[in-house]
Amino acid sequence: MAGGAVQAAIFAAGAVIGGGIATVIVNKRRDASLLPPRPIPVPVPAAAPPAVVQVDNGGRARFSEPIRDVGFVQVLPPVLKNGHPGPISDMLVRRAYTAAYDRRLRHPSWTAEHLNKASLAPPPAAANGGDRSKSTFVEDESLPEPFRAKLKDYFRSGYDRGHMVPAADAKSTQEAMNETFLLSNIAPQVGEGFNRHYWAYLEDWCRKLTNSFEDVYVFTVPLYLPRQDPDGKWRVTHEVIGSPPNIAVPTHFAKVVLTSKPSSASTPSIRDLSMGAFVLPNAIIPDTAPLTGFIVPVEAVEKAAGLTLFSDEVKAKAKHICQSTKCDVTIRRFDDAQKKVKAIGAPKN
Ligand SMILES: *[C@@H]1O[C@H](CO)[C@@H](O)[C@H](O)[C@H]1NC(C)=O
Repeated sequence: MAGGAVQAAIFAAGAVIGGGIATVIVNKRRDASLLPPRPIPVPVPAAAPPAVVQVDNGGRARFSEPIRDVGFVQVLPPVLKNGHPGPISDMLVRRAYTAAYDRRLRHPSWTAEHLNKASLAPPPAAANGGDRSKSTFVEDESLPEPFRAKLKDYFRSGYDRGHMVPAADAKSTQEAMNETFLLSNIAPQVGEGFNRHYWAYLEDWCRKLTNSFEDVYVFTVPLYLPRQDPDGKWRVTHEVIGSPPNIAVPTHFAKVVLTSKPSSASTPSIRDLSMGAFVLPNAIIPDTAPLTGFIVPVEAVEKAAGLTLFSDEVKAKAKHICQSTKCDVTIRRFDDAQKKVKAIGAPKN
């Protein structure tokens, strides 16, 4: 897809609240190879100085030097001798996920998960699995206090504390599930009609991919997309919750999936890859909305977020996920009554 068209598509995603963008699904080559290592958009560990990063023509980024050996201070220009502003995208490595945190917006820049049948299976009877009723939302004290998302910011905000990595993806242990309740894994989401419904259906669809594919990689990415005002200009408008205002409310959320499975029983190391990206507005979405209406090119999410999610090689090899499996969500309203009870008094997960 040409750059201009990608931009137009993502702008349209910002313009059409509740709607989506149909996109042409290009039939990509099927020749397979080993799944390369997970793409790393060079996040920097908390408290470490920002890395020196080189980006090649393909948009892949890597550290220019083995930073820990070089000693970062030596490569700093003198103008920064009194302090280095960053940005630092705190790399949060947890049991069930990895994430980068945005200190300005106070929610994740992205979260990454690797799902498979084993990771989602309930633990053996002897072991204690994660039970969400035993988890509570907690502030992430690994982040510097001024940049931390706070419980009081969400209180009476009208927004749900929306999991980027769902609790249901971390049932292996209570520790793993607890980590999904850190506010560094949370962003403000519209509750009714979004977090508790359509977004939850999409999360469920991602889990069910493990029935058809051996490995499922899921990126969740909060987005701020411009919409066109009546004067013809494009603007990004978003709320900030908390008093004083602290946490930004994304206009949209993306789920980007990559699946991998053996191309055949006799060639298990040759992988069949599929990928797809869905951008949903942070708004009430009717149950009847088709999932395919939210398809966007992966590149559109990358451009909107300023992130490189997959290498060019993976993009070239992967088919579109909707060619490999059915892209429709299962509507689940049966547990609404239970959710309403939980919502009283405080914003819900
Ligand atoms: C999980 O979080 C709850 C609530 O904060 C806490 O009481 C419990 O000890 C935690 N469990 C584990 C295993 O970390």
